[in-house]
Amino acid sequence: MRLVNVNYVSEGAVLAQPVIDSMGRTLLQSGIKLTEAYVQRLRRLGVDEVFIEDSQLDDVEPHITLRPRTREQAYETVKSIRHCIESNRLLQVENLRSVIQRMISDLVGGNEVLGYLSDVKGYDEYTFHHSVNSTILALVLGVHCRLKEGSLIELGLGTLMHDIGKLKIPMEILNKAGPLTPEEFNEIKQHPAYGFEILRKNSDLGLVAAHVALQHQERWDGSGYPRGLKGDKIHEYGRIAAVADVYEALTSKRSYRNAGQPYEAYEYILAHAGVYFEPKIIDVFAKHIAIYPNGYGVALSNGQRGNVVKQNIGYPSRPCVRMLFQGDEPLNPPIDYNLPEHPSLLIVGVENK
Ligand SMILES: [Fe+2]
Repeated sequence: MRLVNVNYVSEGAVLAQPVIDSMGRTLLQSGIKLTEAYVQRLRRLGVDEVFIEDSQLDDVEPHITLRPRTREQAYETVKSIRHCIESNRLLQVENLRSVIQRMISDLVGGNEVLGYLSDVKGYDEYTFHHSVNSTILALVLGVHCRLKEGSLIELGLGTLMHDIGKLKIPMEILNKAGPLTPEEFNEIKQHPAYGFEILRKNSDLGLVAAHVALQHQERWDGSGYPRGLKGDKIHEYGRIAAVADVYEALTSKRSYRNAGQPYEAYEYILAHAGVYFEPKIIDVFAKHIAIYPNGYGVALSNGQRGNVVKQNIGYPSRPCVRMLFQGDEPLNPPIDYNLPEHPSLLIVGVENK
């Protein structure tokens, strides 16, 4: 299978992975033959890329993050959290814990490396998928920082609700397409404190989760907000949530910009190790995120292009690749490179066509 931008999908291409929307619902099952009508529908729904079958790449395995049912439950949970808060009811903390537990068991049983956070890089009004995807990433980081299960649950609960304070911020400010005025930016900066206030009323939740909401915008060098906390004055889960929040935000669509590529977000995060983010967490992040996920289309420095076949754990920028074209001419047979064995070859671009 390979990833392809919907603008390049040819009629009759077969879906290799189901397409799940930003609320966790299955839009199209795998195995379906794509027609122009399907492709138009995907475009309307904000789906930019899909995985399709390709006989030259039938050994490419998808990255498994969550089972579809777990993802659906996670979205339902975020929706129910919102309803509880809007109607001033207390959260059903036991339900929340069991969803996080299911997410952890999916992630622990899945791939060693996190590839593709979700199919839809869409934007939804209260960032449902931002909450769920940040939680997936925070849990992967937590697992590899060797947190115990109880701690992972706390981290997961806090990250799932880290942006809950945004419910108190007017939608016109949150979704504003142009630059924010200083007053509007100040209002946005209140969301960690609003979130903390909301969550600490739920005593069953424990204060740690409320602190993740309060501290996810703090930065390792003290340049964050609301309190400008520095280094290990920030709770460990707040430091992890900060990395997950920023990576997810950079790889998702916003009302004012398109989604960034994983490798761009990865470069940004690594460049800010020891500045915004704790170096130890970034070491873990660098080993466990696939910046060129399996099936991605890549161009090499020798003018060939093809797709990623497999990851090399610990070498995120140097996966195994299969080159199918030299320029526009098909290569017959295709050429496989395990990039760590070819130090002179570099990935110079991403082309999902
Ligand atoms: Fe936030």
